[in-house]
Amino acid sequence: MKLSWHGQSCVKIVTDSGHHILIDPFITGNDKSDLNADTVEADVIILTHAHDDHIGDTEPIAKRTGALIIANVEIAAFFAAKGLKTHGMQMGGKHLFDFGEIKMTPAIHGSSYEIDGKPFTLGLAAGILFTADEHTIYHAGDTALFSDMKLIGAYKPIDIAFLPIGDNYTMGPDDAKIAASFVNAKKVVPVHYNTFPLIEQDGKAFCESLPGEQGKHLEIGEMIELM
Ligand code: NI
Ligand code: MN
Repeated sequence: MKLSWHGQSCVKIVTDSGHHILIDPFITGNDKSDLNADTVEADVIILTHAHDDHIGDTEPIAKRTGALIIANVEIAAFFAAKGLKTHGMQMGGKHLFDFGEIKMTPAIHGSSYEIDGKPFTLGLAAGILFTADEHTIYHAGDTALFSDMKLIGAYKPIDIAFLPIGDNYTMGPDDAKIAASFVNAKKVVPVHYNTFPLIEQDGKAFCESLPGEQGKHLEIGEMIELM
């Protein structure tokens, strides 16, 4: 499995079976993104919650590629009503797809979306545990620190955890450091920072603050491979 980070919370996964999976594809309006919403490949789009910096370009990408959108049932219904292919889930549930297993985990955060200039709440924010090719990835979504992250780490050994460190809307580096110990991931990649001034953080310093080799700083677009 190959993984890369594309700014904010956008993570791209290419499985050994050749499936292209995009998590939280915020591309248009994200100056830090290296992806092109008109050309990016996607078989599957997984959404942690409805905020604009997560749903991002989901609709045009799904329309162009026919990608399956996997999200909480409220977001799934929103996109199903637009004629897109969806699969709704909820926290605590898991499902085995042909490209891997997804388990939706809790997150402490909102999930509103602006429709015709008005904010609507589309379900609850979530995290994602994704297992394929004998590796498990934890994408925390946007969240505060919570002690039940220990249960997420106990459910399955986590190879890579993507944790937000931007502060203000999510955990900052101090809480993310505790989260890293709770989920007990082999590698921790900081995300959801430096997209705009309010969430400026030093990702390298955060990685250096973690024990041993746990911290893994990724440049935008940098790819890592789990063998
Ligand atoms: Ni959010
Ligand atoms: Mn966010």
